Amino acid sequence: MSHHTSNEQLLKERAEQVPQGPFNTVPAFAARAKGAEIWDVDGKRYIDFAGGIGVVNVGHCNDRVVAAVRDQAERFLHTCFHIVMYEPYVELARRLNGLTPGRFPKKTIFVNSGAEAVENAVKVARYHTKRPAVIVFEGGFHGRTLLAMTMTSKVKPYKFGFGPFAPEVYRMPYAYCYRCTFGLTYPDCGLHCAHYLENFFIDHVAAEQTAALVVEPVLGEGGFVAPPPGYFNVLADICKKYGIVFVADEVQTGICRTGKLFAMEHYGVEPDLVTIAKSLAGGLPLAALTGRAEMMEASHVGGLGGTYGGNPVACRAGLAVLDFIAETDLCARAARIGDLVRERFLQFQERFPLIGDVRGLGAMMALELVVDRRTKKPAGAAAKALVKYGYENGLVLLSCGKFGNVIRTLMPLVIADDQLEEGLQIIEKGLAQLTIQ
Ligand SMILES: Cc1ncc(COP(=O)(O)O)c(C=O)c1O
Repeated sequence: MSHHTSNEQLLKERAEQVPQGPFNTVPAFAARAKGAEIWDVDGKRYIDFAGGIGVVNVGHCNDRVVAAVRDQAERFLHTCFHIVMYEPYVELARRLNGLTPGRFPKKTIFVNSGAEAVENAVKVARYHTKRPAVIVFEGGFHGRTLLAMTMTSKVKPYKFGFGPFAPEVYRMPYAYCYRCTFGLTYPDCGLHCAHYLENFFIDHVAAEQTAALVVEPVLGEGGFVAPPPGYFNVLADICKKYGIVFVADEVQTGICRTGKLFAMEHYGVEPDLVTIAKSLAGGLPLAALTGRAEMMEASHVGGLGGTYGGNPVACRAGLAVLDFIAETDLCARAARIGDLVRERFLQFQERFPLIGDVRGLGAMMALELVVDRRTKKPAGAAAKALVKYGYENGLVLLSCGKFGNVIRTLMPLVIADDQLEEGLQIIEKGLAQLTIQ
């Protein structure tokens, strides 16, 4: 492999060799990355507010992670946990069983991606309850495999042309207060959207036919929507009443992003099952399903697993991630970053009418861009232009949301204050430029 190829050459190669399906945000190729910075093959430096979609909360090439990966790579790369077992799998399971919300006995399995963790959550919930249905949410994103894609909300680009979909998936509105489905306002609404679950059992699917309710503590791809206090408590209580497995999809919210190790801790809710992926192994592909021991134990031998699930190198990386988090109090840093970003975003909102809503939880912060604050007409083109302004000026930014009009922050949590401010100033200048146009 040549190390002297330019972005221009590689872009041409990419177009010739790789289909357009796998989208690209920045038209550049990475040469190296460290902490919260990425350098491309032309030597250009970027501040990273994307973290490879929330995967490097502990920073690019975190020293502890790299050392663990190196050490494990020299011992063995793969034996398959189903064939010859290894300690890092069991040790990481033990750690997650202790760290996830809920002081009840838990067990963990490892798979390769967030989508697979979600699929396995449904398998476990179905086996345990002997019921077929799954309830999910508008704005939810759970992955791109058949069942996870079915559970995902946004039609274009995630589902369009890819049906038929998996059966027994039902969708209800989420607590998106800025655009409330019911036209209500918190707290006067009395959390109507959560109590609505009782109605949902009448109109859409019977409670006694429902295996699981799968919900993100904060919508990720759906626009960084953090529900108001009490929302998940109501949902979890109703699930409990009917014996429905409450699954928290913490794939994007987990591993310190929101200022706690898991976002459900903010709400004081103990999910029956939790899906974890993205930042779990600091950049290596690893996902986990952690949950109540009696549910996880229900399936027969051989019912769960996969060739690569819980790869030893990835598990060692996961252990290094958890060590780093504990030693550096990374959750506190995430909360601090969240405060700094929120303060600046609120300043931006005063200056730029384009910003309809500033929201988020911890370092999972977002700006929702609108053409007009009164009508809340989404400004998707402006979000796209801001992302472009970002990479042209050395900042990797991501958009999200139902209308693609939300700018989100998923920077590595090891980002230094001056790097954070540098990135925020690029956003500010970009917003200023968009406002003039
Ligand atoms: C909440 C949530 N669940 C599941 C997934 C799917 O994860 P993966 O892309 O690793 O399959 C994602 C990915 O963005 C996600 O944000």
